[in-house]
Amino acid sequence: MNETAEDRYAGFYARQLSSPTLARIYREVYGDDHPEELRPFGFVTRTDLARMADLLELRPGTLLLDLGCGRGGPGIALARAAGARLLGLDPLGVAVEGARELSVTLGLPGARFAVGGFTGTGLEAGSCDAVLSVDALWMVWNKRAAFAEVARVLRPGGRFVFSTWEPSYVDHARLLAGAGFTVTAKEEAERWLERQLRVYELVCSESAALEAELGPGASVLLEEARDTPASLPSSPRVIMAATKAG
Ligand SMILES: C[S@@+](CC[C@H](N)C(=O)[O-])C[C@H]1O[C@@H](n2cnc3c(N)ncnc32)[C@H](O)[C@@H]1O
Repeated sequence: MNETAEDRYAGFYARQLSSPTLARIYREVYGDDHPEELRPFGFVTRTDLARMADLLELRPGTLLLDLGCGRGGPGIALARAAGARLLGLDPLGVAVEGARELSVTLGLPGARFAVGGFTGTGLEAGSCDAVLSVDALWMVWNKRAAFAEVARVLRPGGRFVFSTWEPSYVDHARLLAGAGFTVTAKEEAERWLERQLRVYELVCSESAALEAELGPGASVLLEEARDTPASLPSSPRVIMAATKAG
């Protein structure tokens, strides 16, 4: 699959912010742990973000690359807290536009966002100090190529921190080692399963309202909520950190 052809979320991003029902579902399931102001599209929590910040060890002025940034909120929050610079890439133009707007709203107007992705960053070798990816890697078919690209753009000793789901047929640690990384952390996200399943349950029971609010963009959400629960327990949501060889 060509990442630039990955457009199934475009309709969702176009209407995401006009769905009070979706916002209410996340509030109900995650309470204060939901970083609503960051407008995430996925399952990231404040707890996850705090852990990712620890693992990234960003310093003021360094460049953080956020791959699969979507509307950009998680990367904006982490870069802003550390005084780092931010570049976010996502294959969807509508998400990149949203990220530009959100970076102004959230007080990081110097952040840059562009269309791109895991296997097409267009960046110079060694140009990034750290790489982040939140809930996006599972969408990338060629993970070997993705990790090779992350290794290419990171400076030696740079950190790569991400959240994703790990089905039994994918061994992220082995793939990372093959790309020249040393894995420094691999842990399940806190209380991920019960909360993700509850979101899906509520999405299914609120499907009519979501369809009305999100229009055609609701379909990816509803399909995911119907199709994913059976396989979810065997695909843990993990947070991983790896360091590029120095
Ligand atoms: C679940 S969303 C997460 C967005 C954002 N990181 C967040 O947490 O709000 C997954 C994102 O991955 C992006 N994506 C899909 N294929 C990709 C690829 N090959 N490289 C980078 N991002 C990709 C999608 O466009 C989507 O914005």
